[in-house]
Amino acid sequence: MARALVYSCTSCGASHSKWSGRCDACGAWNTVVEDAPLSTGPKAQGLGAKRGRGMVLSDLAQAEAPAAHRPSGLSELDRVLGGGLVPASAVLVGGDPGIGKSTLLLQAAAAFGRAGLDAVYVTGEEARAQVRMRAGRLDLADAPLRLASETSLREILTTLEEVRPDVAVIDSIQTMWLDSIDSAPGSVTQVRAAAHELTTFAKRRGAAVILVGHVTKEGQIAGPRVVEHMVDTVLYFEGERGHPYRILRSVKNRFGPADEIGVFEMTGAGLAEVANPSALFLGERDAPAPGSAVFAGIEGTRPVLCEIQALVAPSPHAQARRSAVGWDGGRLAMILAVLEARCGIPFAGLDVYLNVAGGLRVREPAADLAVAAALLSAREDAALPPQSVVFGEISLSGALRPAGQTENRLKEAAKLGFSSAIVPARSARASETGLTLHPFPDLAALVGEMFGAG
Ligand code: TYD
Ligand code: MG
Repeated sequence: MARALVYSCTSCGASHSKWSGRCDACGAWNTVVEDAPLSTGPKAQGLGAKRGRGMVLSDLAQAEAPAAHRPSGLSELDRVLGGGLVPASAVLVGGDPGIGKSTLLLQAAAAFGRAGLDAVYVTGEEARAQVRMRAGRLDLADAPLRLASETSLREILTTLEEVRPDVAVIDSIQTMWLDSIDSAPGSVTQVRAAAHELTTFAKRRGAAVILVGHVTKEGQIAGPRVVEHMVDTVLYFEGERGHPYRILRSVKNRFGPADEIGVFEMTGAGLAEVANPSALFLGERDAPAPGSAVFAGIEGTRPVLCEIQALVAPSPHAQARRSAVGWDGGRLAMILAVLEARCGIPFAGLDVYLNVAGGLRVREPAADLAVAAALLSAREDAALPPQSVVFGEISLSGALRPAGQTENRLKEAAKLGFSSAIVPARSARASETGLTLHPFPDLAALVGEMFGAG
């Protein structure tokens, strides 16, 4: 029999039989730590000795009732969950410490309670009095919700088995520990075992279990990455510090669309839902200025308009700075290289700063063209046509590729009062939105027409 694995990576959770400085699985450095092995259950007495009970095989064609989603009434949350919570499922909500996970989950648990579900909120981080005070501030003091402050999984599971709630929130998975395991709470082994116990409880008793998990950049304590594989739905709660906006994003969902977002605003009285995110992300925009482009994006099934801002200035340093907030730094470098190589616009000796306004993080390649337009506009000190939105993917050859859901993007732009759109030539089909389209086959054509260069 293979020896028990006693080392694991705190970043990706991979198991190793010996220590090494670098994790083979994810490539991270200094993340492999010694771990107590997981309990392996009763020792096998040789497979031949005893027959198992066997498993049940059934026909694929057999009819199955679709998963029943139970909505909370918080429509931003329900949208991200794919319509609501599904019985016998496990949901992981991950996010940086202090971003507002406990606030969101307390509001969610109370909303499920008010929607008629039997909801239980277990915190391992705060005292009950603290949670009550917070609930008071959130105007939830009278919600039908039961609280516990507990970290021992044995106690938690014993009570959950008795109470059989519809929804159980566990805040957070890093504080939970199993007494049968010999390592500290928050270690990979404890987190993995605790998540396993809670997800099997959910399946066994038909409850919905929501786990909260902290993400740490350094991977010092076990991130919920390990847990992502075990649960049905993974949501990330994100936002920039200093901005009140918070985005709940589904990155995995076995019961609904992934990549859906819900938008909230952190206020003095908890998280408020934001029904029209485009208006919000464009709300503080000034008159069109050089270096600004409005990107017509799609987040999940929903169009979201946001402003992309660029600043290009002569660099006082030997090595020019490139900095991107809300957008991938590697992708920024690629767009700068394409502008230089395919359009003859050099950025050497220039510092380049890129920012997505409002604290949104844009991941769509369709934002390439908006980024390029903002960069060009900043470098040439010329504003883009007023009231225009931009979208399209840029390939390394400089050609523009169409982005999906063109009509939805144009519709949202029209709704918010935009009158024209800069798009890849292949996206320029007749649109019913009444927007004037400016189609371009490649980036060089855009440079030539908009900025009279190239
Ligand atoms: P919290 O939910 O405790 O974060 P997490 O569980 O992700 O660590 O939220 C922490 C922050 O939220 C804290 O800095 C204060 C802020 N906050 C508000 O602005 N308004 C509120 O009504 C509440 C409850 C918190
Ligand atoms: Mg918390």
